[in-house]
Amino acid sequence: MVPPTALIPIPAQLTSRSGAFVLTAATQLTAPDILRSQAELLRDQLRPATGLPLAIAASARGACISLALDASLARLGDEGYRLEVTPDEVSIHASRATGIIHASQTLRQLLPTAIFRRAPVSGVAWAIPSVEIEDRPRFAWRGSHLDVGRHFMPKEFVLKHLDLLALHKLNVFHWHLTEDQGWRIEIKKYPRLTEVGAWRKDSMTAPRTKDPTLRKFAGKPHGGFYTQDDVREVVRYAAERGITVLPEIEMPGHAMAAIAAYPELGNTGKPIEVLTYWGITDHVLGVGDNVLRFFEDVFDEVLELFPSKFIHVGGDECPKVEWRQTPAAQARIKSEGLKDEDELQSWFIRHFDSWLARRGRRLVGWDEILEGGLAPGATVMSWRGEQGGIAAAKAGHDVVMAPQKPTYLDHSQTELPTEPAGIGGHNSLEDVYAYEPVPKELNGEGARHVLGAQGQIWTEYMPDPKRVEYMAWPRLTALAEVLWSPPETRDFASFKSRLEMHLERLAILDVNYRGRFRPPD
Ligand code: ACM
Repeated sequence: MVPPTALIPIPAQLTSRSGAFVLTAATQLTAPDILRSQAELLRDQLRPATGLPLAIAASARGACISLALDASLARLGDEGYRLEVTPDEVSIHASRATGIIHASQTLRQLLPTAIFRRAPVSGVAWAIPSVEIEDRPRFAWRGSHLDVGRHFMPKEFVLKHLDLLALHKLNVFHWHLTEDQGWRIEIKKYPRLTEVGAWRKDSMTAPRTKDPTLRKFAGKPHGGFYTQDDVREVVRYAAERGITVLPEIEMPGHAMAAIAAYPELGNTGKPIEVLTYWGITDHVLGVGDNVLRFFEDVFDEVLELFPSKFIHVGGDECPKVEWRQTPAAQARIKSEGLKDEDELQSWFIRHFDSWLARRGRRLVGWDEILEGGLAPGATVMSWRGEQGGIAAAKAGHDVVMAPQKPTYLDHSQTELPTEPAGIGGHNSLEDVYAYEPVPKELNGEGARHVLGAQGQIWTEYMPDPKRVEYMAWPRLTALAEVLWSPPETRDFASFKSRLEMHLERLAILDVNYRGRFRPPD
């Protein structure tokens, strides 16, 4: 039996009452002007399947769903809300518009799953069970990372993914936009970044191997990029759903596509091609003033497009081979009084840390940015386990947990040979659900530096949206509950039983979650 309130993530507090509010042709939405767009979004979510008009009015005449801001709910934080359903009224109150957006998602989940259809469904009573909910997230950073460098993902898919994040109250979309294998964002000042850097001749396929003689290839070119207008659309679409888009521009490693477009950005000046296989390469950015100015120009355009307070600069997997061999890099080490190449990377990241800080933004980097000294304002994304995050939090830096175990969703969901070939390793649904983002080593002030966590989707072996969805879902559903709900509500059996109904929703939304077309083994 599916419980009547199969809510995911489970709310912080829920009290069931008797009776239900039923949507009819007379039901109206009421909202003050300031919540007009939130009311329109809720109407647009309820109208297609019900076929009801659900007019928006300034004040109520008859049964209504009322939206209002209420400063006294500031105790529930910026994203919390109160949702009360009686047979006569649905009232949604929050201190901020973001709370109203999250409450609307809860309301959708209280309705029969057919509410997720996009054309009128007949024979359904659109009943919302009477309930009193007070809800707020445990963590402020509840993220989903997507690598569009290894495989470009169409904008339509990105928008669909954002809808799914919103459904799960995930609120950070980490858009990994540049890689060795592709540069995916239009930069007006440097058109070759996409004219050249967005395209590659071929793509490595499974099986994964480090041996160049064993590599297999798809035998066809691959590419694509987002125009600045596409980016604006994605950012606005996300914002309307309570989601911040965190852009990542990778430096000084994972930048071969940029070097292919502008060879003077590299250490050798020699032309190279956009990479066709996966792994770590020795071709990294040079450290000349020209490189700093180039990326400042890139960030000038990036900041214009992305209102996010945080800006991700990568910083991971940067071999120091070329810097050891290049007189210009060695001269930089000397002139800046640095000890070695690790400190040179640190110098590079510090430059952008202060550059971003002067513009009111905050730098985020993968945990390698700790090596050679952490930039003063940096937030650390801990992926090689949690040690980097623990060290950074103890040093007073904010951290986002993204450890490979269990938040890397490019690892398979089981150890079975029937899983699609991928990067290796596995993280089960239960592993993800059991994840505790605040390590035991941290308490008090240190624990407060853990902003939250996120699920990583690296797309080396995910050539298309269907494969991405197979890997992402339902594991992101589990992570969403970990990050939103109070720890004392965590119960895998309860989650699994609520997931049954939730998967019906995902199926209606045409999500290719693992197990949809074939029962999980
Ligand atoms: C990473 O997986 N290289 C951040």
